[in-house]
Amino acid sequence: MKYIINSTADYHQHDLNSLGWELTVCNSLEPVNSPCRKILSSPYSFGQHLYSFLKEIIPFNNIRSILEIGGGMGYLMRDFLTLNPRLRARMIDISPYLLAKQKETLLSFDVDFELDDILAVQLEALSGFDLAILNENIGDLPALAIQQEKGNDPYQDTSRVLDKLEYFNNKYNLPLGLNENENINIGAIEIVEKLCLAGIKYIYLSEHSCEAVVPEEMKHFLSFETAGVPEMISLKGHKEFTIKFSYLQKIAEMLNYEIRRGAFADFLPLNLNDKVRTALRLITPFNGEQEIIRQFVYDLYKYEYLILIKGR
Ligand SMILES: C[S@@+](CC[C@H](N)C(=O)[O-])C[C@H]1O[C@@H](n2cnc3c(N)ncnc32)[C@H](O)[C@@H]1O
Repeated sequence: MKYIINSTADYHQHDLNSLGWELTVCNSLEPVNSPCRKILSSPYSFGQHLYSFLKEIIPFNNIRSILEIGGGMGYLMRDFLTLNPRLRARMIDISPYLLAKQKETLLSFDVDFELDDILAVQLEALSGFDLAILNENIGDLPALAIQQEKGNDPYQDTSRVLDKLEYFNNKYNLPLGLNENENINIGAIEIVEKLCLAGIKYIYLSEHSCEAVVPEEMKHFLSFETAGVPEMISLKGHKEFTIKFSYLQKIAEMLNYEIRRGAFADFLPLNLNDKVRTALRLITPFNGEQEIIRQFVYDLYKYEYLILIKGR
């Protein structure tokens, strides 16, 4: 099988100077008057919703140190530190632009910042954290994209990465590389293994999923295909891939982690009122607000999260 390594590192390190074009769910819930907040059962920010959800699962009394990887504008961490001032936080991000934004957002909190590619950070440096958060970003990590045209790419040597596939297949009994139509989330696989081997007790991660399914009760309002294999998403200046969460889940389970898995809608419950129903039923939206609502509701079901809890 021939692959091209899809990396977003260059883009994040050198070209990124705004997150506006890639409106994450976290950012779309940031403005207090955001139309997205108004269609939830309670009009809070993303970090507030996520913290309330996690606190039912994770004993925050026992959590001191928290690591956020790829924290974007820093809004999620701001909410966590506001709700739980005892937390000691570290932010690791590959983007100098976004790390600077995080410093601004978190100015009034005691936080450490590190400019780094998380895949280059030594495992030992991650081992002291009680909780790691990776929100809406593991699709940015390197992927192996199926090479459509025949012929060699003289600039890419994929042999090392193919060795990695063999390593993961042997260690975790995975079928990576066997399906010739399957792109591979190699970076996401690597980071899940690394965080688990580092022994971090609680790990939360989320991203667009290629395995997300529209629930029965939403089928009148929403439809998307469940591809089952990572799909390419083209964004400004880079491409990323939806995540095959079942592989991440299997690795974590084999490393003795318990799993909670679901869609964003679990902790961002939708208020399916007439306005939302109308926006979702239209073939073509009439205005910008309806378009925003449709995209947001799609994201609520297309994004999955994993919460990994280390076993005893
Ligand atoms: C789509 S944004 C998500 C931001 C934020 N978590 C949110 O939900 O709004 C992706 C984030 O991951 C960071 N990132 C991407 N690749 C990374 C890497 N290899 N190591 C560390 N951070 C990375 C980006 O700089 C950015 O902060």
